[in-house]
Amino acid sequence: MNQTTTSPVPAKLGATSRSNAWLIEPAVIFCGFALFVCYVTWRALYDWQYIEWGPYLSPFFSPKLIFPGWQWSPAILLLWEPAAFRATCYYFRKAYYRALFLDPPACAVGHLGGHKYTGENRFPLILQNVHRYFLYLALTVLALLWVDAFVACSYRGHIRIGVGTVVLTVNCLLLSFYTCGCHALRHLVGGRLKCFSCSTAAHGQFKIWQCVTRLNERHALWAWTSLGTVAFADFYVRMLAAGVWTDISLLQL
Ligand code: FES
Repeated sequence: MNQTTTSPVPAKLGATSRSNAWLIEPAVIFCGFALFVCYVTWRALYDWQYIEWGPYLSPFFSPKLIFPGWQWSPAILLLWEPAAFRATCYYFRKAYYRALFLDPPACAVGHLGGHKYTGENRFPLILQNVHRYFLYLALTVLALLWVDAFVACSYRGHIRIGVGTVVLTVNCLLLSFYTCGCHALRHLVGGRLKCFSCSTAAHGQFKIWQCVTRLNERHALWAWTSLGTVAFADFYVRMLAAGVWTDISLLQL
């Protein structure tokens, strides 16, 4: 079946009969993307000597990979996975199709790219369907970040909770909300079931599906807050490692 359809929106970029401030959302999203990409690029490629302090390891450089002879930033080996996971995320796809590709910049607003719309049924956008495989990797990365958060609770043989422990833990929590609210995960845990009450196992799956659905309802919120906390967690560890900030101890046993 030919999926090509005629778009109902005006062909001229920005043309619309909408009278509300539709431009604000794509503009804010564009600024958010630009800020994050600039920061990550700077940290990953130019400022990667500050990756850990005491028991804290920056989430950009976790797990800590050391290969003899490797002289470049370890982030090159790590960051492709979260980047691919977020780039293929259903929410972020909508966000950057609008804010970066202007195709369209908002609902019922004239867009770039003419009237032909083929959805994600053809190359290259059909490749977005690999998202579910990046989800499996993202769950593994998330488990490793939780291990880092637990490791951050001890220092030199003592239990110690510092501000950094809180920062890393909050980051893991928000990343968990984001990852566990994934549309692909929602389908994985309950999307294929035809009957939720036909067996105990199916009922258990239904409960999990409900939890994922609750997180999924706020997926955009978790997407942006986790993007902010992961950058801040890295920045916090970086500032400690560079000797600019001092970690305040909240509890020591
Ligand atoms: S849809 Fe957003 S993380 Fe899967």
